[in-house]
Formats: sequence, structure tokens, C-alpha cells
Amino acid sequence: MVIRGGTRLKGEVTVSGAKNAALPLMASSILTRGWNTFTGIPRLGDIATMKQLLGHLGLKIEGGKDLRIRADNLTCPEASYNLVKTMRASVLVLGPMLARLGKAKVSLPGGCAIGARPIDLHLRGFEALGAKINLSHGYIEAEAKKLRGNKIYFDTSTVTGTENVLMAACLARGTTVLENAACEPEVAELARVLNKMGARIEGVGTDIIEVEGVDELKGVEHRVMPDRIETGTFMIAAAMTGGEVKIKNCRVEHLDALISKLTEAGVTVMPEDEGMRVTVGDRLRSVDVKTLPYPGFPTDMQAQIMALMCLADSRSVITETVFENRFIHVSELKRMGADIQIQGNSAIVRGGRKLSGAPVMATDLRASASLILAGLAAEGVTEISRIYHLDRGYERIEKKLSRLGADIRRVKG
Ligand code: EPZ
Repeated sequence: MVIRGGTRLKGEVTVSGAKNAALPLMASSILTRGWNTFTGIPRLGDIATMKQLLGHLGLKIEGGKDLRIRADNLTCPEASYNLVKTMRASVLVLGPMLARLGKAKVSLPGGCAIGARPIDLHLRGFEALGAKINLSHGYIEAEAKKLRGNKIYFDTSTVTGTENVLMAACLARGTTVLENAACEPEVAELARVLNKMGARIEGVGTDIIEVEGVDELKGVEHRVMPDRIETGTFMIAAAMTGGEVKIKNCRVEHLDALISKLTEAGVTVMPEDEGMRVTVGDRLRSVDVKTLPYPGFPTDMQAQIMALMCLADSRSVITETVFENRFIHVSELKRMGADIQIQGNSAIVRGGRKLSGAPVMATDLRASASLILAGLAAEGVTEISRIYHLDRGYERIEKKLSRLGADIRRVKG
């Protein structure tokens, strides 16, 4: 991606459906009989991978933005390594397969750039529901004649861990209680859709979720919620370029932590029918940020707010508490003139300086977003390579940014 910085972004942008809501929803269709229709599905790499995986498992899938999925006959309960290695969220088929078929074989997802990202809490949850789990040759083999409800406590808040065990518990016999469950809006969205399918889930959106198992779930229609991380990324793009952007199709209530930090930094966020308008005052103030599970400041926005803080007026401390290695973007931002020192799981960002365009490399999804943002604000030209990372989570980002006036284009590497 080639960006010439310096343009103030102006105009309107519409947010796409949330990747991290669409992926578990697609996996949940494994639990159902009859057609599911999910509308507002974003066109992203990870969605294509999930479609391929579900097709491989024997589900019938039609459509693109509006997906129709049917799971009446599942043929092969195995998610192979070549699919799982490209997308760790493939592990989300494990719980539904176990609940529906009584067995599942899924490649153990490796680590990734931002951390080891084990799935021990997923597996402990399934064992608590009575499954036999064994690992052989890089695969997880899970088996259970019939899952039985139980009380499960998650040592750490895990988004896909909560989603995976929640989906399995819907078809277990008896009552399951999930304690220290993740409260992310995407988890609540999944629970609401499972209830529409006929599940009996209480405590939606809280950290204690109670599930009464049922025998069968049926297909539903549902529109995927907007992507709060894409929303936050465009908010910061407006702030970094000193522009004025109207963001449509977004849920302000999902962004409280980010909005309070941006407001503290001197950004003006005005809710407006079905969206919000973002502008910035004459100076950006440095603020300290600490990432936490929802409703805390989202780790998926850490790289983006770090790019913003490079332009702020003094010193900000950004602490990452969710993943152990999510500062890979720091060395790339420093190539663009940022002054950032890493101390343990904190990054000290000294602002009050301009960024200058440079060739940089994307390393993971949200790090690539922070490099796009820095390029929009930098003097001169920035070239970002390996932007396949970006395409996993942002639908046609260069088209959306060009429509806001950015000088950005995708060229063949
Ligand atoms: C989800 O990943 C998101 N992905 C991530 O978004 C997001 O960064 C993350 O939640 C945190 O919000 C999807 O929803 C598909 P976790 P997930 O389990 O579920 C540890 C993006 O950019 N942990 O909540 O994999 C883990 O190591 C992606 O779209 C265990 O120790 O994250 C991490 O330190 C990146 N054992 C912490 O918990 C487990 O069994 C939180 O991880 C599971 C997790």
C-alpha cells in the first residue's frame, strides 16, 4: 500500500460487519438444522477461510455479503492443519462439532505474531462438560457421547474460549454456568443469536453466563453487528489527520473506553443518528492507556492509539496486559520517526514531533492498521508491504479511505 500523507480526511464512511462476530456466528450454524441466513457479512480473508472450513466439514454454504448456511448433514468432523494454521479462529468449530456429532478433530492452532495464544481454557471447558480430549500429531481429538452441564471457571477472560464452550453447552444435558466469562459485545451477540436458535442462555453480556441445555437448535436470520474495531480505527484516522469524519453504521455504546480516552486526548466525538461525527481540536494531548478485557480499553485498538500518541503533545504510557508480544508495530513506527521506548509490557511514547513517510512492513492485523494511520499523517510517502495481514480484518480499506480524500493506493508488490 502506498500512502502520501498530509490530507485531512473529510466526509462519510460506513463500517462493515464485525469479523469477530461473524466468525463465531458462522461456526454456530453447525449446531442447527435448517437454513441460517447471516446478512452484512464483511468480505474478508478470514471469512473466506471459515467458509472453506465449514464447506469441508459438510455444511452447505451459499452467498457472499448475505450468507446462507445449512448443517443438516455433517460429513467430516475434521479441521485440517492447512486451514487452521491460516486462521486460529477455526478452533471455534470444535465446540459445536463436539456438541452436535459427539466428536471432533481440529489441528492445534500454533502461536502467532502477537503471542503463544494457547487454547488450554477451551479444552478444560470441554473436559468439564464430560469430553475426552487427547492431543496427537498436532491435532486435538475430542469425544463425548453426550455432554453434561457443569460449572466452569475461566482463569483468564477468553473471548473465543467463552464462545466455544458456550456453543457446546447449548446442547449439553443439564445446566452449565460459565464464570469469569468474556463480556465482549461479540460474545453477547453470539449468545443472543443462540437464544434465537432455541438455546436457553441467561446472563448475556455479563461475566456469569448460565445455560440450560436443549436437544436441538434451528436455523435463524440475523444481521451481523458493525465492527467496533474498524469504527475505532476510522475515528483515529480522523483525529490523526485533523479532519472531520462522519462514521455510519456503528454502535457508540460498544466504544466507551476508546471514546473516553480520545476525549481526554482532545478529540471530539459527537453521536449522530446511527453513528458519530469525529473532529479534533487544535492540539492532541498525550494520555496513558492500559488494555483490558471488555469493557476495558480493547487490545485490538492498542496499536492504533499508539500511532495517535506519536502526534500528541508530551509523553504517554501504553500498557498491553492481554497479549505478551503485541508491540511489533513499535519498530516500524520508529522507522517513521516515532520516539517509543519499550519497558516490559509498556511502551513510552514521546509525542510532539512529525512522522515522516518510509517503507515499512505489516506484521499482524492491527499493527498494519497503525502503519496505515501513521502513513496518513506522515510527511511524504509511506510504503507498507505484506498487507495481506490488513485484508484479514479490514474490508477494502483503501477504497474507504480514498473516499475520505486520502492519497492511498494498492500496488502490486
Ligand atoms: C479474540 O481472540 C479476538 N479474535 C482477537 O482479535 C482479540 O485480540 C482477542 O479476542 C482479545 O480481545 C476473535 O475473536 C476471532 P483471548 P482470542 O482468548 O479469543 C489467553 C483481531 O485482531 N488465553 O480472549 O484468541 C491468551 O493467550 C484478533 O481481530 C489462554 O491463556 O483471545 C491471551 O493472552 C487478534 N488460554 C488472553 O487469554 C486460552 O485457552 C486473551 O485471549 C485462551 C486464551
